[in-house]
Amino acid sequence: KGARVLVAGGAGYIGSHVVKLLGEAGCEILVYDNLSTGKEEAVLYGHLVKGDLGDRRTLEKVFREFRPQAVMHFAASIVVPESVKFPLRYYRNNVVHTLNLLEALEVSGCKLFLFSSSAAVYGIPKEIPVTEEAPLAPINPYGETKATVERMLRDLAASGCGFRYVSLRYFNVAGADPEGRIGFNYPEPTHLVIRALKAAKGEIPQLEIYGTDYPTPDGTCIRDYIHVTDLAEAHLVALDYLLSGGESEVFNCGYGHGYSVREVVRTVKEVTGRDFPVVEAPRRPGDPPILVADSRKIREKLGWKPRYDDLAFIVKTGWEWETRLSAS
Ligand code: UFG
Repeated sequence: KGARVLVAGGAGYIGSHVVKLLGEAGCEILVYDNLSTGKEEAVLYGHLVKGDLGDRRTLEKVFREFRPQAVMHFAASIVVPESVKFPLRYYRNNVVHTLNLLEALEVSGCKLFLFSSSAAVYGIPKEIPVTEEAPLAPINPYGETKATVERMLRDLAASGCGFRYVSLRYFNVAGADPEGRIGFNYPEPTHLVIRALKAAKGEIPQLEIYGTDYPTPDGTCIRDYIHVTDLAEAHLVALDYLLSGGESEVFNCGYGHGYSVREVVRTVKEVTGRDFPVVEAPRRPGDPPILVADSRKIREKLGWKPRYDDLAFIVKTGWEWETRLSAS
């Protein structure tokens, strides 16, 4: 409590939810964000510096002045199909910019780092639920960038310089702040829950289901949907862990059970009370059939206790955020 935390990408969807919890816990916060997708008004606590991770001078200045005890890094590109089309952009933004950030840490003497990784590092896992021991085997450039950074972090921690990190591998993050103060804000969302909410709202004419011939009970892909505030809470327990001397670790962030695309669609229709056209479309390239976390490690080692493991609640908070935007 009272820790000084630099949050790169703290104005974005997940970063802003973490900043809210850090602020409520009494941390001193500096958000470093280029506002490419983040929003100034999403930063509820701390001080916002508009800056790019490509701008090493500004970055080093911020480190010198703020002197963070720990850094959290949410500033990255996240759209898988875009990463397939523009891989170099993904390597620059997700790998090179992370390298800049780590070098700034090194120069400043800051030793603690929390990284936003992804279940995409597993590719198509051989065993479900997938544990942290499964090999890194990404199947798209986005996942490659996350796996590359994880290897950088592993090597830096092993170098004997005192650097320690936690890498959190997010599964399917969804929903919005239960108090309705912040939420998602993507101009062209690709994620299932947000697209289904847009369809319920009538903002898009229909929802496509990408693939109905998967080897799952109803033929559609299964994912482990986690409420963004539970994910944010995982960052707070991971920060406590590092501050109290914990060794470098990697943790899955999911609930440990999944829902199919059809189940998500049904829940969105029930929760919103709106019907909308659903069209069965071909598979989307690069989608693993089933991606469910084995989340025992973070529960046992960090004592993480999720509060919102309920798909209807996740959808409800997303719907409240989505409809609030249109009312204002
Ligand atoms: N889907 C649809 N229709 C849509 C959108 C998605 O049927 O309009 C399906 C997808 O094909 C997939 C499931 O819904 O089967 C979930 O798709 P999302 O795009 O919501 O999420 P992903 O599972 O593809 O992606 C998530 C993270 C990525 C991460 C990936 C790891 O958002 O950052 O998990 O596999 F890389």
